[in-house]
Amino acid sequence: RYEITQREVTAEILPGVRTRLWTYGGTFPGPTIESRRGRPVTVSHRNELPVPTVVHLHGGRTPAASDGYPTDLVLPEGWSGGHGEHGGHGQGHAMHDPRAVTTDLTRDYTFPLDQRPTLLWYHDHRMDFTAPAIWRGLAGLHIVRDDAEEALGLPAGPRELPLMIADRAFAADGSLDYPSLDPTLRGRPGVREPYLAGVLGDVVLVNGAPWPVHEVDAARYRLRLLNASNARHYELAFVDEGDGRTVEFLQIGADQGLLAAPVKHFALPVAPAERYDVVVDFSRFPVGTLVKLVNRLGSGRTREVMAFRVARKAADDSRVPAVLSTDLPTWRRSEAVRTRDFSFRAGRMGEDGGHGWLIGGLPFDPARSDVTVRLGDVEIWRLVADVHHPVHLHLTGFRILSRGGEAPFAHDGGLKDTVSLRPGESAEIITRWEGYRGRYLFHCHNAEHEDMGMMANLQVT
Ligand code: C2O
Ligand code: CU
Ligand code: CU
Repeated sequence: RYEITQREVTAEILPGVRTRLWTYGGTFPGPTIESRRGRPVTVSHRNELPVPTVVHLHGGRTPAASDGYPTDLVLPEGWSGGHGEHGGHGQGHAMHDPRAVTTDLTRDYTFPLDQRPTLLWYHDHRMDFTAPAIWRGLAGLHIVRDDAEEALGLPAGPRELPLMIADRAFAADGSLDYPSLDPTLRGRPGVREPYLAGVLGDVVLVNGAPWPVHEVDAARYRLRLLNASNARHYELAFVDEGDGRTVEFLQIGADQGLLAAPVKHFALPVAPAERYDVVVDFSRFPVGTLVKLVNRLGSGRTREVMAFRVARKAADDSRVPAVLSTDLPTWRRSEAVRTRDFSFRAGRMGEDGGHGWLIGGLPFDPARSDVTVRLGDVEIWRLVADVHHPVHLHLTGFRILSRGGEAPFAHDGGLKDTVSLRPGESAEIITRWEGYRGRYLFHCHNAEHEDMGMMANLQVT
C-alpha cells in the first residue's frame, strides 16, 4: 500500500530558477513504485492540487474501477465545477458525465498486477486536461518484477536505470510554458488551431533533469526507456563522443515486457508512451569516454538527451541470455474472430466546432458506446493514420502483425500496448481480450490529440 499526495511544489530544474510543478508526492517524476507480479498493490491518492485529477496506470491490466476513466475524478477540496480554467485543449464538456464522477479528495486505486513484468508508468488522465496535467508534472514510474526475470542475470541494482524522457518548455522566470488556447477563439472561422501537432518543448528532461551526465562502470547497463513526452518523437542512439561513432545496443524488451530474444539496434524510434528495454555495454569504451544518448530527430538542444561517462573499470557478472522469455502470446490470424477498422484523422468536431482529432470520424464522448469486445476473443484491429499517431489500448497487450501491408520493423517485436503509426501508415495489431470486464479506452497518446478528441470507449463484456 502506498499513499501519494498530489501537490504543488517548486523545484530547481534549470539552474538558478524555480519551477512550479504539479507532482505526485512532491517530486517530478513521482515516486517509483516497485511491485511483484501477481501481488496486488493499492495506491491511495490524495488531491491537494487546484484541479480535479484522474490516475491511470499505463500498461497495467487493471479492473475498470481503478483504471482511471477520464471522468472518474479525484476532486480537490472546495472544487465547484470545471469553469474558469485555462490550459486545456479539449472541448470542456468533461464535467457533465454524471455517471462516473466521484466526490472524494482521496481515492484508492487497486492494481492486481497479474501480468508480465515490465516498466509501467502512471499519469494523469482527466478528460480534456490530460496534456497540461502531465506537462506540469503528473507522471511517475511503476516497475513490475518477477522471479523468472530476475533469474536471467540481466544487469541489475545500480546498473538498471529507468529513464523517463520528456521535453518541456520554460519561460524566462523558470515557469513551465504550456501554450494554451484562448477559448473564445475556438471554432471561429479562419482561426487556425496552433497546436494541432501537439505541444513540444525545447529542453529534454531525463527523470526530471535537463541533459544529465551519469557516471557508469565499464560494464553492461539495463536502460529502461520511456518516452513520457506529450507529443515529441525521438530516435534514440548512443554516440561515442570520442570518435563520433554510433554504438550498437541490444533491445531486450518492449512495452509489455521481455522479448523472446535480444535484437540488435543502432537506433530506436520511440513514440510518446512507448517503452523500450535495452542493454548497453559500456565495457567497450576506455575509461573516461563520454557516451551520449542522442535524439536523431532533434536539432540543437533537442538533439541531446543525456550522457554516460565511463568512470571506472569494474567486474561484471551480468548476462543477456539468448532466450529471454518463452511466454509471449503467439496469436495467429486464423484465431481472430473479428477484424475491426479504425481511422485516426483530423476533422471538425461538430457543426461549428474547431479542428479536432477523431477516431472513425468521431471525437471522444464518454456517453457513447464505441466498441464492445468479448473477454477471451482474439481480434485483429486495422489502424490507419493521417499524421503520426501513437495509438494506445488500455487493459490489453497486443502484437504488431504488419505495417503498410508489410512485415513490422525490427523494433516492433514483443508485446506492445502502444503502436506508433507513421504518417499515412496503416498497421494491423492482434490481441486476445483478457483480464476484466468493464469500460476501458483506446486513444492516441499524443496527449494534445487525446485531449482534442482522439479517444474512444472500449467496453469489455
Ligand atoms: Cu498512458 Cu490512456 O494512457
Ligand atoms: Cu494506458
Ligand atoms: Cu495523434
